[in-house]
Amino acid sequence: MATLTDLGFCQGVIFETIICTFNSSGCPNVAPMGVTLEDEQRVALTIYNSAKTLKNLQNTRVATLNLTDDIDVYYMSALKSAEVSADLFEKSTVVNAPKLKKCDASIALSVESFKAVDMLRTRVVCCVESVEALKRFPVAYCRARAAVLEAVVHATRIRVLCGIESERLKVVRLYGLIQDCMDIVNRSAPNSHYVELMVDLQEKVDLWRAS
Ligand SMILES: Cc1cc2nc3c(=O)[nH]c(=O)nc-3n(C[C@H](O)[C@H](O)[C@H](O)COP(=O)(O)O)c2cc1C
Repeated sequence: MATLTDLGFCQGVIFETIICTFNSSGCPNVAPMGVTLEDEQRVALTIYNSAKTLKNLQNTRVATLNLTDDIDVYYMSALKSAEVSADLFEKSTVVNAPKLKKCDASIALSVESFKAVDMLRTRVVCCVESVEALKRFPVAYCRARAAVLEAVVHATRIRVLCGIESERLKVVRLYGLIQDCMDIVNRSAPNSHYVELMVDLQEKVDLWRAS
């Protein structure tokens, strides 16, 4: 079995993954989440209490972490921009959780503990039950893809914080960071799918801030 170190995980660094869980009706839920390595057998996530993923983990105590650089999966699952199609998933053979059919690696997890970080977030430590890695061609680095991912992270924070008066300045700062990401996308990949995603994201953020 491949190890987390084989997949590039190391301590002190946050790695971005797609976490899949089942909700209480048995429907798959998918969301991007940052993960840190505790040790070779355990990972930790810090999850906003408002996230469905946290509720699902509390109910089922299992999940899969899926590695992909497909920006559309990040975009759709972070912003719930489209109905999640059941076709995206298959059931893990290791834990009672869905996994992405198309991904570079899938890590089956069981929850070890939950601990409140603050009023808004919970830290979840999970044990690694299995690691499944696929081989494929290397993917060339593209700044626009990285910029869209950054912008989506900022947008999901704005969505959580924009109703909280004391976080108003943070929201303004995050909005400015999205504009910087937009500049990078416009410069490095004009007329691309990345621009379309950024335009859609900007519309969503403007709506959240106005409501
Ligand atoms: C790259 C990336 C990393 C993210 N990491 C986290 C995280 O570590 N914790 C968290 O609560 N939300 C994180 N988010 C935001 C969630 O994915 C987002 O709020 C999502 O809609 C939650 O979905 P859920 O309600 O189905 O769990 C991240 C978003 C992106 C794009």
